[in-house]
Amino acid sequence: MALFNKKTSKALPENLPEHIAFIMDGNGRWAKKRSMPRKFGHREGAKTFKKITRYCKDIGIKNVTFYAFSTENWRRPKDEVDAIIELFREYIIDVRNYIGEDVRVLFLGDKSIFDDDLQKKMIDLEEDTKDNKQMTMLLAINYGGRDEIVHAASILASKVKDGEINPGDITEDMFGKYLYTADVPDVDLMIRPSGEQRISNFLIWQSAYAEFYFTDVLWPDFTPDELDKALIEYSRRSRRFGGV
Ligand code: IPE
Ligand code: IPE
Ligand code: MG
Repeated sequence: MALFNKKTSKALPENLPEHIAFIMDGNGRWAKKRSMPRKFGHREGAKTFKKITRYCKDIGIKNVTFYAFSTENWRRPKDEVDAIIELFREYIIDVRNYIGEDVRVLFLGDKSIFDDDLQKKMIDLEEDTKDNKQMTMLLAINYGGRDEIVHAASILASKVKDGEINPGDITEDMFGKYLYTADVPDVDLMIRPSGEQRISNFLIWQSAYAEFYFTDVLWPDFTPDELDKALIEYSRRSRRFGGV
């Protein structure tokens, strides 16, 4: 029997992913098409991010991750980077209004690059939402998949040096616990809008067996209907994890 979205009464596939990851791409091109500066695209993209978060919660997705800013995005012009960080600041203030929403918020990435006050806001939000159960929303900011793996390897190397563990004790499970995603399950469905078909250093460990869904829609134009298409496509895929 099909599941229904209680709000829209639309039929949804039964086997929904437990963890969806979005690469929020195409903001710059969205703005360019309208002859506007790239930062307008980021502002519009932030609205899509909020709508899609809510929709995922409504239909019962347990874990949803958004790629907001990569370790490579610092290569962009300073005014664009500043505009993105400013949007992020606004978001953190705004999101406190939703603290009773039963959503756990986690930030993926190296926080140490941000101003102290912003770091504190990020840590406080994680702390204040840590017992929320309905959904976990992960926001990847100053995130790089390789950076994350090196970070985990470095912690484990220190533990070996201090004699807490032996090199031979390190398993995939143990390694995974030292990633920014720690207790969050692997990605089931990775969605990239904007027509690009690459992973761009996003969740490279956690998406080892993810299904990929690509669409030409630019992120600011991405809607719950577009997500439904991805969910239907996902439900038809046969996931084998190396088996038969
Ligand atoms: C994604 O949109 C947002 C970030 C990388 C911060 P882009 O800014 O990459 O948009 P395009 O790819 O240039 O259209
Ligand atoms: C990936 O998009 C990063 C985010 C969406 C935050 P990019 O636009 O930076 O990726 P590339 O450069 O096209 O691979
Ligand atoms: Mg891009």
